[in-house]
Amino acid sequence: GRLSVGLDIGGTKIAAGVVDAEGHVVERVPAVPSPTDQAAILKTVSVLVEGLRSRHPGIVAVGVGAAGLVRWPEGRIRTAPNNAYRDLPLRRLLQESTGLPAVVDNDANAACWAEYRAGHSASYMAFITVGTGVGGGLVLDDRLFRGRTGIAMEVGHMIVDPYGTERCGCGTVGCLEPLASGRALGRYGGVAAATDPGGTLATLAGGPDRVTGEMVSAAARAGDPAACAQLERLGHWLGIGVATLVNLFDIELVVVGGGVAEAGDLLLDPLRSSFARFVTAAAHRELPDIRPARFGPEAGWVGAALLALDHDLDLA
Ligand code: BGC
Ligand code: NA
Ligand code: ZN
Repeated sequence: GRLSVGLDIGGTKIAAGVVDAEGHVVERVPAVPSPTDQAAILKTVSVLVEGLRSRHPGIVAVGVGAAGLVRWPEGRIRTAPNNAYRDLPLRRLLQESTGLPAVVDNDANAACWAEYRAGHSASYMAFITVGTGVGGGLVLDDRLFRGRTGIAMEVGHMIVDPYGTERCGCGTVGCLEPLASGRALGRYGGVAAATDPGGTLATLAGGPDRVTGEMVSAAARAGDPAACAQLERLGHWLGIGVATLVNLFDIELVVVGGGVAEAGDLLLDPLRSSFARFVTAAAHRELPDIRPARFGPEAGWVGAALLALDHDLDLA
């Protein structure tokens, strides 16, 4: 059958693989760091695509999910708070370099599509990714909602704390992302480690200023209460964001993915309680399920590959 390459360009790494039209993973390649300049990103993406094509002659399309504001269907990346690219016509460049029909969408939109198409059957669902950045996708009436130009659902830049102190990568103070991302988790962990230099977190990291989000998650899984408390802070802020999404869109399912969601219920339980506390009229509505991504941190590239297969005919 027809195969498609999917790539996920995140704030920290690029993940890629091959899927078939049902969303079954045929091959996945080890993630590589996201280069810090635009030309190198393009080069890395082309090399990954050509490598996969040499092994899978059935590949007929390429899909990219890219962190940042991506014009749809043009596939031009306007800007991204955690990536080097500015005004990059990635879809056109990829089609030129590979000769394959390509689609380029926002990373979280792509991940949302994977979860909808091959994961859950919910006609009204939201997807939130929690990694280096915080992103979102939305299915309304069985269709991915992208807004007028493709840049809807920038969940990470929902204003939740306008009088706070953390400045977002986008330049604004008050966004959800600097309070609830993987980077925020590392920062919270660093503060906690500094107050307890002999504790698990500080020891694991080899110093309070070296604590990363991954280390906090690892310590939390090992049962460290200080680490669990930091995931609870993330869950608190994410629950506020999810409450607003549910208030606005009356959705039946919320799927949470991205690297930080690998913490599972250590993140999702506090998120669920915060959500239930802040959603309006909680006693008078059916509360949506809040579930982990079926594709885990792979949802982005799987969804991008599926989008390419679903759209190659009308967009090529
Ligand atoms: C970007 C989004 C992206 C998210 C996850 C945010 O900083 O603004 O476009 O979806 O990170 O990568
Ligand atoms: Na999005
Ligand atoms: Zn922001």
